[in-house]
Amino acid sequence: MQLRAIRDIYRKELESLYPREEIDSFFYLVIEHHLKLERFVLVLQPDLHLTKEEETPLFHSLARLKAHEPVQYILGESFFYGMRFIVNPSVLIPRPETEELVSWILKDLEGTGTSINILDIGTGSGCIGISLAKNYKNCRVVGMDISEEALETARINAKRQEVKIEFIKADIRFWGTPADRWDFIVSNPPYVRISEKGEIRANVKDFEPGVALFVDDEDPLFYYRHILSYAKEHLKNRGTIYLEVNQYLAEETKELLEIEKFSEIELKKDFLGNTRMIRALWSTI
Ligand SMILES: C[S@@+](CC[C@H](N)C(=O)[O-])C[C@H]1O[C@@H](n2cnc3c(N)ncnc32)[C@H](O)[C@@H]1O
Repeated sequence: MQLRAIRDIYRKELESLYPREEIDSFFYLVIEHHLKLERFVLVLQPDLHLTKEEETPLFHSLARLKAHEPVQYILGESFFYGMRFIVNPSVLIPRPETEELVSWILKDLEGTGTSINILDIGTGSGCIGISLAKNYKNCRVVGMDISEEALETARINAKRQEVKIEFIKADIRFWGTPADRWDFIVSNPPYVRISEKGEIRANVKDFEPGVALFVDDEDPLFYYRHILSYAKEHLKNRGTIYLEVNQYLAEETKELLEIEKFSEIELKKDFLGNTRMIRALWSTI
C-alpha cells in the first residue's frame, strides 16, 4: 500500500478523536519510529510504496491510537528538552510546560559555574533532573519518587543520557527523603484536582498514572505543603525552590509560600500564557 494512503486512513479513523494536525504528528512519529522515515518523506516521495511487513506496525499503532492510548506509550518514548526519554505507563509523559521550568532553572544558573546540589521530588521519568544534569555540569542531582517502577525508568533514562544521578525511593508525605542540604529543590508534584478530570482527555486520564496526576479537591495543595515543610528544613540558607503549579491554583500556591515564610516569590507563565511555575528563596538569616 502507498504510504500516502495509510496517512489518509489515519486521518479518517482518528478524525473524531483528534485535530488534523495532531493526527498528522502521530503519523509522522509512528513512521519515524518504525520505518526511520522523516516527516517530509511524502513531499519527496509522494508515491512511496510499503511492503506488508512495513505496513503492519503502522496499523497496530493506529488501533492503539483509536483506543485513546498516548502515542508516547505506544512508541515507548517521548522527547523532552531535545532528548529522547523512555516512557511507559509507570511515568507521566513529560510535558512542554515542564521544559519551561527546566529552562528557568538553567537560565538562573547561566554563567554562575558554582557547584550545586539539586533534589528533584517526584522525578517520574527523570526528565527534570536529567535535563539539569545534562545541561549544567557542575551539579549533583538526586531524583526521588514513591514509585519503584518510575525510578527504574528514570535510571534507564539517566544511563542513556550518560548522566550520573542518584535515584531514591521515598515518600514526601512521611519525610522519607534524604537528609542532605540542597541548593535547589525542584518539583512537579501531582496537582490536578479530581473535579478537573472532566477537562482532561481520555488519553491522559485512562492511561497516565493516577498517582502522578491527581489530588483531592478538599486539599489540592497537599503535596506542596509536604514539599515546603521538607524544603524549610533541607534547603541551604538562600537555597531556591522551583515548582510547577496548577494554573488555577497559582495564587493559592504563592500564598502558601508566603505563609511558610519563603521570600522573593515569583510566578511565571508558560508559552500558552498560563501561570505554571513558581520560584522562591529560603533564607534562614
Ligand atoms: C506530575 S508527576 C511528575 C513527573 C516528572 N517529574 C515530570 O515532570 O514529568 C509527579 C510524580 O510524583 C510522584 N509521587 C506521587 N506521590 C508521591 C509521594 N508521596 N512521594 C514522592 N513522589 C510521589 C509520582 O510517582 C510522579 O512520578
